[in-house]
Amino acid sequence: MTGGIAAYKSPDLVRKLTARGCEVQVVMTAAARRFVVPMTFQAVSGRRVRDDLWDEEAEAAMGHIELARWADRVLVAPATAHFIGALAGGLAGDLLTTVCIATSSPVWLAPAMNRQMWAHPAVQANCRLLEDRGVRLLGPGAGEQACGEHGLGRMLEPEQIADALLAAAPDRARTGPLAGLKVVVTAGPTREPIDPVRYITNRSSGRMGFALAAAAREAGADVVLVTGPVALATPPGVRRVDVETAEQMYARVHEEIEGTELFIACAAVADYRPERAAAEKIKRTEPEMHLELIRSPDTLASVAALPNPPFTVGFAAETHNVAQYAREKLVRKRVDMIAANRVGPDCGFDRDTNELTVYWNGGEMVLGEGAKAVLARRLMDVIAKRYLESRKSRAGAAP
Ligand code: PMT
Repeated sequence: MTGGIAAYKSPDLVRKLTARGCEVQVVMTAAARRFVVPMTFQAVSGRRVRDDLWDEEAEAAMGHIELARWADRVLVAPATAHFIGALAGGLAGDLLTTVCIATSSPVWLAPAMNRQMWAHPAVQANCRLLEDRGVRLLGPGAGEQACGEHGLGRMLEPEQIADALLAAAPDRARTGPLAGLKVVVTAGPTREPIDPVRYITNRSSGRMGFALAAAAREAGADVVLVTGPVALATPPGVRRVDVETAEQMYARVHEEIEGTELFIACAAVADYRPERAAAEKIKRTEPEMHLELIRSPDTLASVAALPNPPFTVGFAAETHNVAQYAREKLVRKRVDMIAANRVGPDCGFDRDTNELTVYWNGGEMVLGEGAKAVLARRLMDVIAKRYLESRKSRAGAAP
């Protein structure tokens, strides 16, 4: 990042990228440090910020050329008029320009400046020159500016930048281990109505399931995400189907299951639902109220029981005896794998981190603790490996 007022949005951009499984190394210019302190970026990226070409300690750990090679993409957000000019001129006077010149990975710029500066012929010529050399520009957008003027020059919103950056990653999508395979993922809670204004639900935020859908997409799959009510953006390239109740989740998954190679059930589906939902709001007249609950259909077990089932992966959310219950679910639901996590007020649900161990018949793997986006990638790697092995042995067993 370079030194523009839009830098106040950059920590949010880093957070959005890490939440989607990116490893982010922040490099700041000296001017950028005047807008946001490096500590903020260290906190959101989990890595020490790099801001000096002459920092002996940092250079010894990962030199600037190594850093330029390490990055799959280099994004400069905000990119000021001065920085754009320096890059167009091939100058390498600080760490950021050096990394941009030394990298062979795509370089993306999110320009941000006053509208007059953006319209200046020198800035426009520099941008055209950079685009001719393969640098991609994201924005700028139009709107109210920090200087009080109105026009073109605003940095795009972090969400738009993250979407564009990740949507343009077709290389993995075409060559990933699940390239072209249909994967259905369930996520989020379900809501079971009691009456038109009340329902039974649980603490699932959908984050784990959404991270899995994103990881499956990154691995090249055609992903359908069947989700209960959550407040999350759909991962780029993923088809989303919204449902509310356990019965709807069951129905929509079965509508999608034709042609599905991999089914991952991460949703926290309500096991029981009110037998009847009242047509009108229940009035507060009686001293007690009794709800009759009945079992909801089990989507995961029903998919695993199909005559020609996809490779099925379930989750086990347990407050205690996690390993034992997970193994029991593996057998009882006849699934290929179970990812187990402990859940409670302090873990599993409704937070960015999780801790997972995955079990299958005859094996297990501890995936450890970390951001859900990172764990989702680890889990997808294991799932893809075991799925491909199972298909190989099935092909070998065929007459
Ligand atoms: O959404 P987050 O806030 O990110 O939290 C993530 C999570 C804790 C919800 C997630 O990691 C998780 O554990 N999801 C499964 C929750 C659950 O309902 O577990 P269970 O042990 O009750 O169910 C076992 C399996 O059967 C699950 O794969 C579940 O999706 C499936 N199931 C259960 C009941 C039912 N009626 N239909 C189902 O398909």
